[in-house]
Amino acid sequence: MSVIERTPKIETRRLALRAPAFSDAPRVAALANDLGVARMTTRIPHPYSRGEAEGFLARMAALDYRREAVFAIEHEDDGVVGLIGMHPTGQFGPEIGYWLGRPWWGRGFATEAALALLSWIKQEKRARAVISGHFIDNPASGRVLQKAGFLYTGVIEPRYSTARDAVVDTRMMVWIA
Ligand SMILES: CC(C)(COP(=O)(O)OP(=O)(O)OC[C@H]1O[C@@H](n2cnc3c(N)ncnc32)[C@H](O)[C@@H]1OP(=O)(O)O)[C@@H](O)C(=O)NCCC(=O)NCCS
Repeated sequence: MSVIERTPKIETRRLALRAPAFSDAPRVAALANDLGVARMTTRIPHPYSRGEAEGFLARMAALDYRREAVFAIEHEDDGVVGLIGMHPTGQFGPEIGYWLGRPWWGRGFATEAALALLSWIKQEKRARAVISGHFIDNPASGRVLQKAGFLYTGVIEPRYSTARDAVVDTRMMVWIA
């Protein structure tokens, strides 16, 4: 069974979270090739080419979806607007991360997607807790996590941002299922 067949489609009021397809590469590259997006993430390099998006999507297709899942965030009218995912941490629960293309900021989509992913993780993965974190200069993401029910742990972790080529203080948060 392919990753696309195994990965569920999670529907929200305005969005669907679904397995990313290789054919999403041009859109993903266009949206992620934005320093304002990449610099707030650990892994997205800048600039970000279509070839890099293709490589990323090929790696995502090979994931073991019982442990690690990445979803395209698809808007009912506008198509793919960003990505959201969860990966294991070796701690007490998985970690989630996300980004949205700039034209769709400020409409509650990240919060809507995060809430849907959290309830899927709780139901399907039986996780007791989920962790996440945001760079200290990214209060918008902190707000998303707070609105989704995360609390600050008080831990500040140094994390490397590929786009900045720098280590950035990261405020860690936890969500109790
Ligand atoms: C962070 C990001 C995901 C937010 O997505 P979004 O769909 O705009 O988020 P939402 O609309 O659900 O919520 C954003 C909240 O942040 C608030 N916000 C926005 N800019 C802010 C700022 N500079 N300071 C404080 N709060 C801010 C908004 O007012 C909103 O809160 P409210 O509903 O209480 O008014 C999006 O901007 C993004 O993808 N940024 C680049 C990548 C990134 O940061 N990924 C997360 C890495 S941890």
